[in-house]
Amino acid sequence: VTTAVVPVAGRGTRLRPATRALPKEMLPVGGKPVVQHIIEELVANGIDRVVFVTAPGKEAIEAHFEGEYPGITFSSVVQPAPRGLGDAVLTAEALVADRPFAVALGDAILGTRETPPVVGLLGRALVDADAACVIAVRDVPRSLTGRFGIVVADDAPPGRPARVRAIVEKPSPAQAPGTLAVSARYAMTPAIFDALRRTPIGPAGELELTDAIARLVQSGAKVLALRLDDVPRHDIGTHEGYARAFMAFALTDPDYGEALRRAARDLLGAG
Ligand code: UTP
Repeated sequence: VTTAVVPVAGRGTRLRPATRALPKEMLPVGGKPVVQHIIEELVANGIDRVVFVTAPGKEAIEAHFEGEYPGITFSSVVQPAPRGLGDAVLTAEALVADRPFAVALGDAILGTRETPPVVGLLGRALVDADAACVIAVRDVPRSLTGRFGIVVADDAPPGRPARVRAIVEKPSPAQAPGTLAVSARYAMTPAIFDALRRTPIGPAGELELTDAIARLVQSGAKVLALRLDDVPRHDIGTHEGYARAFMAFALTDPDYGEALRRAARDLLGAG
């Protein structure tokens, strides 16, 4: 799997006013834009073709990468309106053609100062098992299920992909069928495009990628989940998430991290 679709067309409403003119994917974390972390992770995982699904007004993202990564091909396609993650992936269909591809959310950094081998592992599992889709998942506290797609999967030994039996978008803690959360990275075959076309718009008014994957599961297609509980995930979707990510990278900076940790202790009154 050497092509990755990176959806960056969302409105970022939860981060307003910071994101009124600046795409959230361009907010700096550890001295570089969030989306650069994602591209560096993808390149370290063998991706050499990146397809941005972008929106009018977010040209800064493409401009940022112009001429920067020799050997990596960047292309982009405009999602006319932010109709959901599933719609964003469907928008990329013509650029993906008939090869398997990865999907990496443009606002979720995996790892802190290391590039975890997530997409490489997902791609290998997809090919080895001849699956239609492999999803990175991790266990989350039940109180947080409403923020993620939640997967029900068979048991599998650590590091091995497990067969997915059900997947639900953002269930409430009371209704969640489990606590394994979809974790911002996928590998899939073009079978997803037909599933997306047959998927109705969800209750949030968006075409959900999760609902299309649920269709694949129901149709008997092989959908797998790979647990990556050890990989830290930094979600930049909210002000708190952004502040936490910024802090995690700032406090571990090789040049000024130690001075910052001292300053933080002072601020906290711990001497
Ligand atoms: P989110 O749903 O977290 O982003 O999508 P959002 O819609 O920008 O956020 P809010 O709710 O308005 O604050 C996760 C990723 O998917 C992209 C976003 O750009 C983000 O990187 N996305 C989302 C799209 O490309 N298109 C969409 O229609 C929705």
